[in-house]
Amino acid sequence: MSLQEHGQVRYMVVNEGELTSLKQVALAELALQETAQKIAFSQGDACNLKPSYTGYDVIFAGNLIDRLYESAQFLGRIHERINTGGFLVLTSPYTWLTEFTNQDHWIGGKKINGENVTTLDGLKAVLGSHFNLYVDPIDVPFVIRETARKHQHTIAQMTIWQCK
Ligand SMILES: C[S@@+](CC[C@H](N)C(=O)[O-])C[C@H]1O[C@@H](n2cnc3c(N)ncnc32)[C@H](O)[C@@H]1O
Repeated sequence: MSLQEHGQVRYMVVNEGELTSLKQVALAELALQETAQKIAFSQGDACNLKPSYTGYDVIFAGNLIDRLYESAQFLGRIHERINTGGFLVLTSPYTWLTEFTNQDHWIGGKKINGENVTTLDGLKAVLGSHFNLYVDPIDVPFVIRETARKHQHTIAQMTIWQCK
């Protein structure tokens, strides 16, 4: 939002200990000035979205589901907000943690009645009645820089679901 308003932002990155570097990014460098004006930001609880958020052709939830307190609440009714033929695009590394989500609410990444249930299995169960899995899941690697010498390498899985 700040980048949209001001055209640039400055931010600090940690190098080591208390040593940091100042960085800057500008829309002009990325040729994104026009695109930025087409974006509307708003904030809400994904598990309890306002009814007005509806009628979308695409909903993208990037690295969100394993950070929700109850992702089934988000996933179970998201079809009501997507036009028929529209898409739900999810990415997640499925890094479930009780810090964010009680284990009862993990949709996968656990054993149920002694059987391994993956998050992809859970997504198929929760989304299957309102969506078709449009393509095979796709790996989306990304790197988060923690310090100059430490990086977290994660491989999210992207699944694309078409609304029936
Ligand atoms: C792992 S971060 C991913 C951030 C960003 N989408 C990305 O890929 O860089 C997870 C995000 O989910 C947000 N989040 C957690 N619970 C939420 C909820 N109930 N409703 C909406 N957002 C939530 C957190 O604030 C955090 O920004």
